[in-house]
Order: sequence, then structure tokens, then C-alpha cells
Amino acid sequence: MMAPGKGILAADESDSTAGKRLEMVHLPNNPENRQDFRELLFTAAGIEEYLSGVIMYDSSMRTATDSGVPFPDVLTAKGILPGIKVDLGTKDLDGFTGEVVTQGLDGLEERFMEYYDMGARFAKWRAVVTIDTNTPTDAALEINSIMLARYAQIAQRCGIVPMVEPEVIFAGDHNIERAEMVTTRTLQILFQTLMKYKVDLGGLILKSSMVLAGDMCREQSTPEEVANATLRTFHMSVPYDVGGIVFLSGGQSPRRSTENLNAIAKLGPQPWDITYSYSRAIEEPFLLAWQGKPENTEKAQQVLLHACKMNSLAQQGKYDVAADQILK
Ligand code: 13P
Repeated sequence: MMAPGKGILAADESDSTAGKRLEMVHLPNNPENRQDFRELLFTAAGIEEYLSGVIMYDSSMRTATDSGVPFPDVLTAKGILPGIKVDLGTKDLDGFTGEVVTQGLDGLEERFMEYYDMGARFAKWRAVVTIDTNTPTDAALEINSIMLARYAQIAQRCGIVPMVEPEVIFAGDHNIERAEMVTTRTLQILFQTLMKYKVDLGGLILKSSMVLAGDMCREQSTPEEVANATLRTFHMSVPYDVGGIVFLSGGQSPRRSTENLNAIAKLGPQPWDITYSYSRAIEEPFLLAWQGKPENTEKAQQVLLHACKMNSLAQQGKYDVAADQILK
């Protein structure tokens, strides 16, 4: 999963969130359009050069191409590991205004066994951490970390690599210093909990947000600031034996996500392998080129390949932002 120069595509939007992606190009959210969207992503020639894994949602795991090949088999044939999002979304955390807890532990072992048979070799569980005046509370971070630890234990028992994702949300007017404090606290509580519950850290991937000022903050962070704050955070909180770290794009533009990853890689080798696991930053340029029109398919798949290639270069600190005419 952490092969140099490769990353992971997060194509694991729930059916309703996939609708938001399709809406960008005015396509109705129906099973046919979701199938077309994912089929074009997964069958694009050459993506295997840049992608080691693709995360899917339950319905995509059960979908096949027009010619009848199940999506997980399409990926496996290309040497790309199929992954599965297994959490069932968030619910309000009682007594804690503005905070949520992720659902989905019931029946998880049986679901893992079925997904394994379908080809899944890694999984994702996402917790949501929102920065506001009074949040996050330690109580919310603790309960979400326990859920992540239990999920990771069950995944490892079933032979599936857990990706643990505490997403610190980018939306907000907080500055980068506050983002750094919150992300450090979040990851410290997470790893204390994972160790307490004896999760094998070497067989686990952390999916993290980059550390940066909120999208409404007047002072936006430069790539160098993001790189320094993000790595400082990891060194304060992530044990060195963790199997790898991947980033979500979190609503940053595709160009900015790539530029920030590049700045992180430029700071040199770290104790962990680090790469990207983007959804929006890779899918949006593709969708805008595609527009749901068959005549745009080839161009859109080339744009997809370009986005993957630029992120793979960024993973190695070799992205040339000035030369990139495509990512916006
Ligand atoms: P974004 O890259 O769009 O943030 O999505 C990644 C992801 O998997 C969030 O859970």
C-alpha cells in the first residue's frame, strides 16, 4: 500500500455523497451514473502506475463493469488493492453539542469476512473532529478513538489492514496554530488508545488531515507552513512503527493538495512512509473534464491520470507547480 511513488484513491463516497459529486456536472444521482463514474475511474489505462489502492463503498464492491467484471476484480487484475469503507457514518454524541461519534461496529466481523471474499484487503473507518470554540472535547476524541481501536482489532483479526481516519475538518475560521494543537491532541489520544487495546501499529495505516488554517481564516497557510506544522504534529503524536500515513484532501483545491504534499515530501525522509489518499482532489478534475458525456471519456481519463501522476510526483517532492497547466 505504501509503495514509493504511489497513492490511494478514495472513491468510497456513500451513494448520497456520490450524488454531490455527480451534481457538480449536473448528472442525476442514480445507480447507472454512479456505475459509469466509478467504471471510468477504475478502468482508466495506466492508473496502476500511480495507485496502490482504491477505497470503495459497499455498493461499488457489489457493482460490475458493463462487460460484467466486478469492480474489485478490475482493480485486483491491475495490481491495485481493493479497500472498503466500513463505518456507517456519524451520529450526534449525546450531551456534546456539535460533536459526533462514528457508527458501524455491529456485525463488523461478518461484513469483513464477506468483503475479504470479494477481494478487499484493507478498510477505512472515519471519525470526524470539528474545530470550534469549545470543540473537540477530550470525551469525544476518546469515544471515537475507542471505536477506531475496536474496528482496527477486528480488521486485523480478519486479515484486513485497517486505515484509521480521524478527520480534523478544514472548514472553519481557526488559524494554523489551533489546527496544530487540535490535530496533535487528536492523534495523541488515538495512538494511546490503539496501544492500550493492543492494535498492531505496524499493520495499520493512519489517514490524517494536513495541518492548516481553516478555509475561513483570514491568514491562509503556505505550503511550507503546512509541511512544517504537519510533520511537527506527527512527530509529537505518531509512533514510528506505524505502517504508513496517508493524507485526505479535505476540501482543499486539487492544486493546493498536491502542492502541500510536495512541500511535505521536500522536508526529506521521515520515520513513516507518507503518501496521498485523496477523493475530491483527484475526482473533481476528472468529473469536470467528463461532464457525463461519452465523447469526453478519453480526455477525462487522461485528466485523471494526470492528477494521479502529479500527486505521485508530489509524494517524492518532484511536483513542479509552475509547469502544471491542468490542476486548478
Ligand atoms: P477527500 O480527499 O475529499 O477529503 O476525501 C478523502 C476521504 O477519504 C475522506 O474520508
